[in-house]
Amino acid sequence: MQAVILVGGKGTRLRPLTDTRPKPMMTVVDRPFVTHQLDHLQRHGVTDVVFSCGYLPDALRDHFGDGQDRGLSIRYVVDPEPLGTGGAVRNAWPELDPSATTLVLNGDVLTDIDLGAVLARHRERAAAGTIVLTPVADPGPFGLVRLLADDSVEAFVEKPAPEELRPGEPFRINAGTYVLEPALVQGIPEGEPCSIERDVFPAVAAQGGLYGHPSDAYWLDIGTPAAYLRANRDVLAGRVRTDSPVGDAHLSADVVLGARASVGGGSVVGAGCRLGDGASVSGCVLGDGVRVGSGAELSGCIVGAGVSVGDGATVGEEVVVGDGAVVAPGATVEGPVKVPTDGLVDDDGVRESEHAGR
Ligand code: GTP
Repeated sequence: MQAVILVGGKGTRLRPLTDTRPKPMMTVVDRPFVTHQLDHLQRHGVTDVVFSCGYLPDALRDHFGDGQDRGLSIRYVVDPEPLGTGGAVRNAWPELDPSATTLVLNGDVLTDIDLGAVLARHRERAAAGTIVLTPVADPGPFGLVRLLADDSVEAFVEKPAPEELRPGEPFRINAGTYVLEPALVQGIPEGEPCSIERDVFPAVAAQGGLYGHPSDAYWLDIGTPAAYLRANRDVLAGRVRTDSPVGDAHLSADVVLGARASVGGGSVVGAGCRLGDGASVSGCVLGDGVRVGSGAELSGCIVGAGVSVGDGATVGEEVVVGDGAVVAPGATVEGPVKVPTDGLVDDDGVRESEHAGR
């Protein structure tokens, strides 16, 4: 079984953290996010993986190489221009076995769905394509996928208005996990940007052969700051099956905690971080090499690598601090706000560093 993981997006909603790394390389607990996806694939016996890259491809290549050290065969294709999710799958075709079924994963979905069961249903139906679907309370911001009684796709309803919804119908959205037959992949126009969700699937559904696979498995798109924090908390709490340790918090290697410093509430502290006396960190993710001063209080925020938080500073909920930024001693920053890479927070608020652009 071969898999394509779509990892080429710019991850704009996670800026400024994605200024310096692609979203799939953002750490979730103790490993880059996409490693959880590789672990998941390997648990289902999938070892042949193509990364469909675009934005910052070298970060993935440098980290994973050919995958042999982890028992995988990993290959890379890089979009010549952003091709969208459909164009990117088509662009991976030369790296795929043209006679084999392909699993396609969005590179930002945390799930422990039983992929074997999805494949088995796909084969039983002799489907051209199968889309995993996940339930939502409100389909309004998403694209509703409506199924017929045999689970074939009846319609895609983009961002449905309340009057478009049928009484009692299940609200299911595309979960970003697909099983595709070669003819479907080959049928995607070559070299043209297109969206698999909005362009390719509606056309295939109209011809027949496209099925939905409703699933209640854990599912989370990690693409916003709130969702990224939640992914870390949920992995730590064991709400989703992964190979990461569970616990109230995760401290990476070489973390130094001062006297009475506290870390909890599903926090993740990166390698080489130093927390001063009485510092408190709750429900946060701290990148590598962060300095937190004495008595500083951090809660519900994401702090990039190499950030310095001064003594007695406060960083609150929904604050995203870019790599290398400085929060001055005693400063307070409340979210939602993004502090730019190498930015500065002091009594005058959030600003670009005087060194920005150097
Ligand atoms: P936002 O900019 O925050 O919306 O994030 P994103 O760029 O990741 O876009 P989105 O969440 O819609 O993408 C879903 C998945 O497809 C992610 O795993 C992306 O990496 C991937 N993706 C999106 N667009 C492209 C593309 O043009 N090429 C490739 N290769 N992958 C893409």
